[in-house]
Amino acid sequence: MSQFEYRDGLLYAEDVALTEVAKKFGTPTYVYSRAHLEQQYNSYADALDGMPHLVCFAVKANSNLAVLNVLARLGAGFDIVSGGELERVLAAGGQANKIVFSGVGKTRAEMHRALQVGIHCFNLESLDELERLQEVAAELGVQAPVSVRVNPDVDAGTHPYISTGLKDNKFGIAIHEAEAVYQRAAQLPNITILGVDCHIGSQLTSLEPFLDALERVLILVDRLAELGINIEHLDLGGGLGVRYRDEEPPCAGDYIAQVRQRLAGRKLTLIFEPGRYIAANAGVLLTQVEYLKHSADKDFAIVDAAMNDLIRPALYEAWMDIKPVVPREGTPRHYDVVGPVCETGDFLGKDRPLCLQEGDLLAVCSAGAYGFVMASNYNSRGRAAEVMVDGEQMQVVRQRETIAELYANESLLPE
Ligand code: LLP
Repeated sequence: MSQFEYRDGLLYAEDVALTEVAKKFGTPTYVYSRAHLEQQYNSYADALDGMPHLVCFAVKANSNLAVLNVLARLGAGFDIVSGGELERVLAAGGQANKIVFSGVGKTRAEMHRALQVGIHCFNLESLDELERLQEVAAELGVQAPVSVRVNPDVDAGTHPYISTGLKDNKFGIAIHEAEAVYQRAAQLPNITILGVDCHIGSQLTSLEPFLDALERVLILVDRLAELGINIEHLDLGGGLGVRYRDEEPPCAGDYIAQVRQRLAGRKLTLIFEPGRYIAANAGVLLTQVEYLKHSADKDFAIVDAAMNDLIRPALYEAWMDIKPVVPREGTPRHYDVVGPVCETGDFLGKDRPLCLQEGDLLAVCSAGAYGFVMASNYNSRGRAAEVMVDGEQMQVVRQRETIAELYANESLLPE
C-alpha cells in the first residue's frame, strides 16, 4: 500500500498534505513515510516468523538517523559498508550484534572498531581481507565472526551498474574458490566461521536468479559440511525490486516462502539485506517549478531539485514517476523535468505529460532509496532537507544544508 496518495485534489504523505511540507520546510525536500518503512520491514519479518532470522536493512539505501531509528525500534539489524555507516547505526539506537559488515575495501581501522563494538558478522570479499581480519582480531585478542561472500555467477537481469553476482564483478569470491577460503579460515585462530553470504544485484524483478543462486549456495554448504565446516547462517543479501513504473516484482512474502521451501529440513538462520524494498517507495523528493521554458521542439520544466539531489535518472537513466502535488485541469505538455545544474545530463524525467505553471510543486516518487544518500554538493548546492511524516505529524530529520556549511572545512592559503 502506498502512503503517497491524492486526497481532495492534493498529494498527501500519510495524513500530511505535501503543500504543507513545502510551506513549512521549503524545497527541495525529501519526505519519508514512517508507516511505509514499517510496513515494508514487517513484510520481511512476518514472512520469516517461526524461524531464526535477521533482517538487516542495507544502510547505503537511506542512512538518515531517523530512518535507521524507526527500523531499529522494530528490531531490525543493519547491513553496513563503512565505518561511517557503523557509527550511524549505533547513533540511531541499532544493536551492534545485529550488524553485518559488507564491502570489498574494509580498512584495518574499520575492522578494529567493528570488532570492538561486537558486530554479528563480517561478510568477507577476499582472501587478503580474511588474513587482515585475522591480524586485527589477534591484536585485540577477540574472535572475528565471518561469512564468505560468494559470487554464484548468476545473471540478475538488472542494470549492469547494479548487477553484482556475475563472475567479472569486483564483488565476492567465485563460488568454486570459496571452499579453499573456508578451509583457510578454519585454520585461523581468531576467525569463527558463521555463514555463507551472497548478493547478486539490485532491483531484481523475478525470483529465478535468487533461487538459482540459493541452489548453488546450498551445494557449497553441503560440501563444506563434508569438510567438517558447519554453516550456521545463510545471508541472501538484498536486491528485491520495487515498482517505479510498471514493474511487477514479487513481494517479500512470496520470495521468502520459496526460500523457506528450499531450506526445509535444514537448520539455518536466514539473513537478508534489503535496502530498496524497504525504503524506495517510502520517500518522495518534493521540488518546485522555477521556470517553464518552451521552444519550437521542446518544453522544459526547470525545477529547484537537480542531479546533485537525486542522481538516479542521470546515472542509470532510471525512470522515476513525477507527480504534480496539486494537479491542474488542462491539456498537458510533454516536459523534460530538469534541474539548474550545468550538465545536459541533469534531468529528473523526460517527456512527461504534465500541466504546469511556475511555482507548482512536483513529487519525484520512489526516491526514498538511493536518493539523499547519493546527493552531492555539485555546483555548490547545499543538500536538501529531509522530513519524516508519521500520521498527521511531520518532523525535519535533517536540516537543509546552509551555504556556510558548504565551505566550512575549507581554508585559504597563508599570505
Ligand atoms: N547488500 C549488499 C552487499 C549490497 O551491495 C546491496 C546494494 C544491498 C545489500 C542492498 O540492495 P537492495 O536491496 O537495495 O537492492 N545506487 C543504485 C543501487 C546500488 C545497490 C548497491 N548494493 C540505485 O540507485 O539503483
